Parts: sequence; structure tokens; C-alpha cells
Amino acid sequence: REEDESGKGLRIYDPAFQNTAVAQSKITYINGDTGVLRYRGYPIEQLAEKSTYIEVAYLLIYGELPSKTQYNNFFHEVMHHTFVHFNVAELMRNFNYDAHPMGLFISGIAAMSTFHPDANPALAGSDLFIRDEKVRNKQIFRLLGKTPTLAAMAYRHRIGRAYNFPQNNLSYTENFLYMLDRLSEENYKPNPKLAKALDVLFILHADHELNCSTAAMRHIGSSLVDPYSAIAGASAALYGPLHGGANEAVLRMLEEIGSVDKVPEFLEEVKQRKRKLFGFGHRVYKNYDPRAKIIRNIAYEVFDVCGRESLIDVAVVLEKAALEDEYFVKRKLYPNVDFYSGLIYKAMGFPTDMFPVLFAIPRVAGWLAHWKESLESKDAKIWRPRQVYVGPSVRSYIPLELRE
Ligand code: CMC
Repeated sequence: REEDESGKGLRIYDPAFQNTAVAQSKITYINGDTGVLRYRGYPIEQLAEKSTYIEVAYLLIYGELPSKTQYNNFFHEVMHHTFVHFNVAELMRNFNYDAHPMGLFISGIAAMSTFHPDANPALAGSDLFIRDEKVRNKQIFRLLGKTPTLAAMAYRHRIGRAYNFPQNNLSYTENFLYMLDRLSEENYKPNPKLAKALDVLFILHADHELNCSTAAMRHIGSSLVDPYSAIAGASAALYGPLHGGANEAVLRMLEEIGSVDKVPEFLEEVKQRKRKLFGFGHRVYKNYDPRAKIIRNIAYEVFDVCGRESLIDVAVVLEKAALEDEYFVKRKLYPNVDFYSGLIYKAMGFPTDMFPVLFAIPRVAGWLAHWKESLESKDAKIWRPRQVYVGPSVRSYIPLELRE
């Protein structure tokens, strides 16, 4: 604790924001001790079972479930903002063939800011997009509509195939799968069971209050930069292996363990702090992550269609062993959302490095909801945390020629 020289009271040192609440929010409720997650008051289990990703996106962003007319308008607008500018596609084409798709995704979103100057307060000559609901909604439609297209381009680039144009007559997730896989046959449609499974995964990943990337979104957005730049920054935060990159890290870890008999040896290394058990632990959940429970069940539904992913056996044994081990019990470490999702993506045929992109697409809804809420907040102000200075006290400059 340190007295603030500005007279605003005590400054409290809170590394990694472990105890700091920086915003009031009506979007998502988490009870980490009991493993509860609700979007705008609705339990995640009900939304996963009964809703669709696009309806959940509306709920998160606008606060209420849409009426039929509101839903149809929203869906229409999002699906009519799915094409990206030809030059953005050109930009995506110029990356190395083995570039990480998340790098393409982040760059594509950042590039979009230059194509939509109406969202840039400096270029528009005012912070119009904050006050004008129409301008703000336009950016919401564009970002929800175009991010799956960018993600599909990143994937097609990765596998060395031409891009497919979006299909506005499909559902949100079907259109994404269509852009990934379109076969030459006429009227090709993705498998409905896989589209449904992916839609549920999208619902589960849509928001999670002030996680690292959403905090980044609010932080960057607080400078009133355009939302494309802010979402590129939030995506970069999500890319890291401690956050959205964990699903990729889990799969690589399971592949490395390889078989169930190697699990005890691996856990030993984790306990000796030589390794990390990816897909376990959470800053907020000190109980089973409710999303992980739902995802585990989806895994078996996807295996019914795509064939069983053999690493599921390693994952199940690893989970059980960790949940019974004192190291994990004492620290309240449970599987999180990333533990089983990678196995589903692998079974569906996604390359491992696409996994964080599959987390980022649905999180766009959450980022936008927080962006909108923070702009509308009575407490809206640029985020500017303080530090506790622990460097040297004042000293005199010594010219280079006099230094040893
Ligand atoms: N494997 C081994 N030990 C762990 C793990 C893990 N996955 N997670 C936490 N611990 C230990 C940690 O070493 C510490 O032990 P000690 O108190 O003896 O030093 C204790 O548990 C508390 O951990 P922490 O690092 O202080 O917790 P945190 O809140 O700072 O970190 C976390 C949370 C998610 C970054 C961390 O649990 C972790 O690195 N997990 C693996 C990565 C992962 O799965 N991330 C996805 C998170 S959920 C989705 C998302 O946010 O994107």
C-alpha cells in the first residue's frame, strides 16, 4: 500500500489484478467456487442446450434475448457483412505458407481498421461511433460477420487452397464450416451435427467476463481507438498459451504423452514444476469449469460422426489422475474449457494451430459486448493503472567516454 501523492487515497499494489475490480458489468456472472457461469442471468447450460451462437451474441451485446423480428434483423445484418475487402484477402495471401493462422487472423482484423475509417474517431473527426448507435452497430455487424471469413481464409491459406466466398443463406456456424470445406459438389452443406456441435462450442466460448483478452479489449478500447484495432489487440492477448492458446498447448501435450501408461510420469514432472498441465487451473474457477463438463459430452457426439479420437483415453486418465492427486486437490486445480475442446477440433480435422482461432471467433461477441458496455458506462475513462516504482533514486548522468 502506498499513499497517492495526487491525494486520491491509497494506491494498492495488486500484481496481475488478482484482487482488483476495474469495471461494473451486467454481462457475465461467474461464481468460481461453485462453478457457475451465466450470460445476462441465463445459465450457460440452458443456453448451450437451447440457444444458438448468434442469439447468444445478441444477448451478450444488447442485454436481452431478441424478439423474432430483432433476431431476424440481427442475423440478416451479420450475414450481410461477411465479405472482406479484396485487398484484405490479398494481404492474407502474402503470409508464409506455414504462418500461424492466429497471426493471419490478428493481422486481418487490424487491417480492417484501415478499410472502415467511419469507426476511427480521429479520421471521422469526432467520436461519432460512441454516440451514434447506428455507426456502432455497423461495426458490430462487420466484426461478427467478417471474423469467420478471416478465420476461414487463415485456414485455407494454411492448407494451400483457394478461399471460398461466404454463403449468407446458411447459419452462422454452417457458413463458417462451408468456407473451410466447400466441396465442388453442388449445394454442398456441412454436416448438421458438426455445425450444431461447433455452434454449442461457440456459445461456451462467447464470453467469460474480465479474462485477459477482454480486459485487453476494454483497456485498448478505453483510448477510443476503433474497435478493429482493439479486437486485434484482444486477439493477440488470447493467442498466448495461458489463455486461448491453451487448447493448442493441451493437444500438443496429449500428443507428447501419447499413451495412458505415460500419464503418471508426466504428472510427476508437473508436480516437480518442470511442466505445466495445460487445460487445468483457472484464476476464477476453484471448482470444475461448467463449460468443460458440457464440452466433454460434445466430444463423444462429434466422435460419433468423425470417428473416435484416440487421445481421449489419455485425456480421461490424465483428468482422473490429476483430480485424485494431492498436488491438484490442494491447489483446487480442475479441468478448464480448453482441456477437451482441442480433442473435438482434432477429431473434426482442424490442424492444431487453428485451435486458438476457433476460440477467438466466438469471443468476438464478448469483446464487442464489453466494448459497448464500457463506452456507455458513466465511469468511462481512459484506463491508466499506476505502478509502484522500485528503481534507483535520482542519479547524475555520466558521459559515455567517462564510463568504465
Ligand atoms: N499445472 C500445474 N500447476 C498449476 C497449473 C497447471 N495448469 N495451474 C496452476 N498451477 C499451480 C501453480 O504453480 C501455483 O502453485 P503454487 O501455489 O505452489 O506456486 C498454483 O497452482 C496457483 O496457480 P497460479 O499460477 O497462481 O494461478 P493463476 O490464477 O495465476 O493462473 C492459469 C491461472 C489459468 C494461468 C493457470 O492455472 C495455468 O497456467 N493453467 C494452464 C494454462 C491453461 O489451461 N489456460 C487456460 C485457462 S481457461 C481459458 C482461458 O482463460 O483462456
